[in-house]
Amino acid sequence: MDALTIRPATAADVPALSDLIRRTVRLSNAADYAAPVVELIAGNATPDKVAQRLAERDVFVCLDGARIVGTIGLGGDRLRSLFVEPSLQGKGVGARLVAHLEAHARQAGVVELQLSSSITARGFYERLGYRLIRFEEREDGSTFLMSKTLTSC
Ligand SMILES: CC(C)(COP(=O)(O)OP(=O)(O)OC[C@H]1O[C@@H](n2cnc3c(N)ncnc32)[C@H](O)[C@@H]1OP(=O)(O)O)[C@@H](O)C(=O)NCCC(=O)NCCS
Repeated sequence: MDALTIRPATAADVPALSDLIRRTVRLSNAADYAAPVVELIAGNATPDKVAQRLAERDVFVCLDGARIVGTIGLGGDRLRSLFVEPSLQGKGVGARLVAHLEAHARQAGVVELQLSSSITARGFYERLGYRLIRFEEREDGSTFLMSKTLTSC
C-alpha cells in the first residue's frame, strides 16, 4: 500500500463507492448472512442510494494512491457504513477510518458514538473499545447495537 489518505467523499466517488461496498458485502459478509440477506444488503448500495447517503451523512473515503480502499460515515450520533476493500483487510485501514470518524464526531459534539455492527465486524469494534448493547435480529440483516463514549483527548 502507498501512504493512505482520508478525505470527504464527493459525487465523483459514487460509482467506485458503490462497487466497493457491494463487492465487500458479497465477499466479506457472505459467511455470516444467508445469501438472500447478502443481496438485500448489497442492494442498499446501488449508485442512487450511495448518492442519497452522501447528501444525508458525512461520508469519508480512504485512498491508497488514487484508489478508494475504504469508506465510513457519520449520521447524527451513529457511525455508518464502514467497508474496507477485501484484499486489504487486516492491515489497519478499518482502524484508521474509525479513528478519523471518532475525531470528526467529537468535533461535531458527539459524546456517545453508536453503531449497528454486522455479525462479521463485532470483534473488530470490540477491539476498538465499543461495548455491546444488544443483538438486534432483523430479516434484512441482524446486527449488534454497540456504543463508545468519546473522550475529549
Ligand atoms: C470489519 C472491517 C471494516 C475491519 O477492517 P480492517 O481494515 O480489516 O481492520 P483492521 O486491520 O484495521 O483491524 C484492526 C484490529 O481489529 C482486529 N480485527 C479486524 N477484524 C476483526 C474481526 N472480524 N474480529 C476480531 N478482530 C478483528 C485486527 O486484528 C486488528 O487488531 P490489532 O490492532 O490487534 O492488530 C472489514 O473487515 C470489513 O470491511 N468487513 C466487511 C464489511 C463489514 O462488516 N463492515 C462493518 C459494517 S458495520
